Amino acid sequence: MRGFRLTRTKGIAQMGIIDKPYAFSDNASAQGLSIYPKTARGHIFFIGFMGVGKTTCSTKLALRLGVPHVELDTHIQQKAGKSIRRIFAEDGEEAFRAYEHQALCDAVASHTPSLISCGGGVVCHTPNQAMLCSEGYCILMEAAPKTILERLQNNLPPLLAVDNPLERILQLKQERQDAYECLADWVYDTTGKTVDTVCDDLYAHILSLNSVCVSA
Ligand code: S3P
Repeated sequence: MRGFRLTRTKGIAQMGIIDKPYAFSDNASAQGLSIYPKTARGHIFFIGFMGVGKTTCSTKLALRLGVPHVELDTHIQQKAGKSIRRIFAEDGEEAFRAYEHQALCDAVASHTPSLISCGGGVVCHTPNQAMLCSEGYCILMEAAPKTILERLQNNLPPLLAVDNPLERILQLKQERQDAYECLADWVYDTTGKTVDTVCDDLYAHILSLNSVCVSA
């Protein structure tokens, strides 16, 4: 969690950073919020498995907060000129991960603090982990595997398009869980909650960072 040193190495590289103090402006800009990084660029990353609501909620929250929103998968599709599904089918997962890494680099490079919605596999790549640690605050969104399947089953993403998607979710999630938890500054479970409730809770949390994290 916030301010700790990552020492768990199972499945992810050891990283020595982490101190990511933030402050929010008292002085309203746009719809009332500016994010001022102290030591990092001040982004907020939404991480977590597919189907937990990262894209939906971060899009709404960015509008509500009046800050830019970046969705890495959208960025990847624009760069590649084709859908995520086609990238996986025609170029393979490795090529997709390369696009994904570049998309994260591009998003992080922005000097305007942004809400950045990350694909579920971003946390698996060591250079991405370092960026997520040093360049922003990570909100880990969670959901129960059955809930994830219910949300995605009408349009299964490439990695879940298998005979037994629930088994695949359980397996992939377990493989990634250490990385998710090591990177998380805060964890929020969306199981059984409406989008509005999730957004309200995340909004309140983001605003609360103002009071918890500022140190000169
Ligand atoms: C992936 C998650 C997807 C997308 C791609 C791979 C993953 O994004 O990047 O299908 O490896 O978990 P979402 O988590 O936004 O669905």
